[in-house]
Amino acid sequence: MMLRLQSPLPERYLEASDDELAEWIGNAKAALGERVFILGHHYQRDEVMRWADARGDSFRLSVLAKERTQADYIVFCGVHFMAEAADILTGDHQQVILPDLNAGCSMADMADIDSVEEAWESLAEVTDIESVVPITYMNSAANLKAFVGRHGGAVCTSTNARAVLEWALRREDGPRARQVLFFPDQHLGRNTGYAMGFTEDDMAVWNPRLDLGGLDEVTAKESTFLLWKGHCSVHQRFRPEHVEQFRAEHPDGIVVAHPECSHEVCSLADHVGSTDFIIRTVEAAPSGSVIGVGTEIHLVQRLDDETPDKTVVSLDPLVCPCSTMFRIDAQHLAWVLESLVEGRVPNRITVDPDTAHWARVALERMLAIT
Ligand code: 13P
Ligand code: SF4
Repeated sequence: MMLRLQSPLPERYLEASDDELAEWIGNAKAALGERVFILGHHYQRDEVMRWADARGDSFRLSVLAKERTQADYIVFCGVHFMAEAADILTGDHQQVILPDLNAGCSMADMADIDSVEEAWESLAEVTDIESVVPITYMNSAANLKAFVGRHGGAVCTSTNARAVLEWALRREDGPRARQVLFFPDQHLGRNTGYAMGFTEDDMAVWNPRLDLGGLDEVTAKESTFLLWKGHCSVHQRFRPEHVEQFRAEHPDGIVVAHPECSHEVCSLADHVGSTDFIIRTVEAAPSGSVIGVGTEIHLVQRLDDETPDKTVVSLDPLVCPCSTMFRIDAQHLAWVLESLVEGRVPNRITVDPDTAHWARVALERMLAIT
């Protein structure tokens, strides 16, 4: 895991009661007015989410921040790669702030630029690298988005992964992919490949710790999808047994899973899609439905609270929260907002201009495709 250091908060925040924190946040937010825009990713705790001016998935929030031109300060209640994406997409006068610098994403950290460049070089020794297109999931560092931008690839989200992969394999605006190097989440890549009609014979897992990804030369050269050996520690916890147990208890229940879950789980689900898709699926379900969801627990609980005519439960009764999303709490939010009122900008997340340029190229390719 990449080390990012968050300095300890002043005692005042650590000792404050919930009511005091809520009062400080409310006052600071009111004092900043339109100059601040608070974004809340769907996995945030309720104590943070109640202050969000906009809720959404990672990509939608960045677009909303860009559109809110009057906001000088974008406080991103989410994780590091999301704040970087917001900095890439927003104007120069807008400063993006991550309330706790230790809020990373363990999946994003499973692919770093050195390992991806090494993989690219070793692939170039065995295959025609001009016909390999790199695709990175939104959940990745800015320098990986820039890498795919430089090498003719694109970013994808869990919503548009299929459209992006289809573009890569059929494109007419550049070299068509014979192979795709997909990082950092093997599950999103595999689930999308299966949905497109490919089989496991077309896919191989690239292990960055091993020479040539741990593959023999023929496999490295012939696999349509080279899937980076990365995963989300939250979504990998869902198992087929959880789906079977839910179905046994609720024979008419509906199962919906995030595509970061394993293929075994997704193939048993009724619906598979991003956090926004999961919300829409719950909204569209008939009153009285019982819906078993395979994603982060804060979203599942909020959906249950906000749709009283339906029962929304986690497929895994023992599921843990995303520990890095969980780092953003009322203490850190109060601290950043009060610092802004005092004229200090804490925890600013910036991406250097060259990286931002190429990452934007990869993001714009995604937008043009979808
Ligand atoms: P979304 O893009 O669906 O919000 O997912 C982000 C994420 O971190 C999922 O684990
Ligand atoms: Fe990263 Fe998984 Fe947490 Fe999403 S839920 S931020 S992919 S660790």
